[in-house]
Amino acid sequence: MVKVNDRHIEALEKANQEIAQKKDVIKESAYRLNYHFMAPTGWINDPNGFSQYNGEYQLFYQYYPYDSKWGPMHWGHSKSKDLVYWEHLPVALAPSESYDSGEGVPGYGCFSGSAVVDGEELVLIYTGHVDSNEPMQVQCIATSKDGVAFEKYTQNPVVANFPEDGSKDFRDPKVWKHEDKWYMIVGTKKDGKGKAVLYVSDDLRLWKYKGVAAESDGTQGDMWECPDLFPLNDTHVLIVSPMYGTQNEKPFYVVGDMDYDKGVFTQGTCTTLDYGFDFYAPQTLVDDKGRRIMIGWMEKWLTKMPSQEHGWAGAMTIPRELILEVDTLKQKPVVELADLRTDYKKLDAFEVAEKTTLNELQEVVSETIIDFNISETTATQFGLELRSSEDGSEKTVILLDLKNKEIVMDRLLSGCGEKGISKAPLVVKGISVNLRIFMDTTSVEIFVNDGEQVITNRIFPDANSKLFNIFTQGGKVSVNSIESWKLGSVWN
Ligand code: FRU
Repeated sequence: MVKVNDRHIEALEKANQEIAQKKDVIKESAYRLNYHFMAPTGWINDPNGFSQYNGEYQLFYQYYPYDSKWGPMHWGHSKSKDLVYWEHLPVALAPSESYDSGEGVPGYGCFSGSAVVDGEELVLIYTGHVDSNEPMQVQCIATSKDGVAFEKYTQNPVVANFPEDGSKDFRDPKVWKHEDKWYMIVGTKKDGKGKAVLYVSDDLRLWKYKGVAAESDGTQGDMWECPDLFPLNDTHVLIVSPMYGTQNEKPFYVVGDMDYDKGVFTQGTCTTLDYGFDFYAPQTLVDDKGRRIMIGWMEKWLTKMPSQEHGWAGAMTIPRELILEVDTLKQKPVVELADLRTDYKKLDAFEVAEKTTLNELQEVVSETIIDFNISETTATQFGLELRSSEDGSEKTVILLDLKNKEIVMDRLLSGCGEKGISKAPLVVKGISVNLRIFMDTTSVEIFVNDGEQVITNRIFPDANSKLFNIFTQGGKVSVNSIESWKLGSVWN
């Protein structure tokens, strides 16, 4: 009889061969990013199993190596010593069993989940799809003693049925340890409400249902995907990727109190995590330095993805450290990224009365920190044009609108990708507004005022559209300083 792990090994070998054949061709794609995580070929979506094992960061991800479109889900795998340089490892999970291949419902496989270190072992907890006529989601585990080869547990699934408070949409387990017990929340839906249901276990194999840890207040989506609940400072934070019908919406975070005895998380304030279009299914870890770090899928369902024509799709955001200040979760790019900086440029205070091109700043792959002096600025609407062509027919516009108190990223003329306008609240507290902008070949991440608000979008401009302009719409804009670096590549 063919055993669980023989079948699995066969499915993994097939996937790894596919990657080996295609990975060099993919490297030629002009849309490849320089310092963002990408798979060697094919399609990726959610980060999974974001963890640290033997001192090295582990990043798994929803993966279909055979095509640039979503397909039966595998778990891709990579590791890093510093969250900057990643080493691709063999595929960790492939659909192979009656509980995770979903054969009657082709195209499912091993869905999202998390990873924990239990003694010597790295344990993956993921959602499988049972072979049946209707999608039926169950929770499974796989373990590894070397952090590379994963064996599926022979008694899978470890949670074979959705609880009474949930429904057949029952996925994306996130596991963490509190005191001496393992806790797991799983996303689900019932009666028009997204929910995170809670389980508890001593050994990661036998799980007891505790109840609904949190659910939508009626405005937070009818299905919750990829819930993540973790302690931060002396409180807890819940992150959810919500769905409204078939539409995936912007992930949000809630600061609140967790009662482990009752198994209930009481919601405090709820805030959008990232105001861009290309940010979904984020996951966090706590590392050996005590930092809570988040990484997200830098793309979104049902959007135009030009890189699909080049045989691949999907990337991760830069890793961001989460800092909680009262009810605000600030996102700070991890300090390790500074290792990529070269060609430092600094511009001292200056004023702009109309549009100005900053000739010093023409690096496409760059980090730029710009500090606007609001007390000296007389314009109420001003901003930046990034990746602008000489004639201005192509550009990505960042507008700071003091009147309407919002910051806007406009992709109408950003090239061949998806269009659309992102808006985030602009909170002017002191006399300046600070933007930290990470640009890569096909992405822009903007951290406003120390990461109080973040906007992440993919853009696909021509490689020659490189101008960095400052403009005002009436009145002058005053800049305190600009610092900028070219960022190196982690993939060469
Ligand atoms: C979120 C999600 C998860 C699911 C996975 C499938 O983007 O829909 O709920 O596990 O993607 O690839």
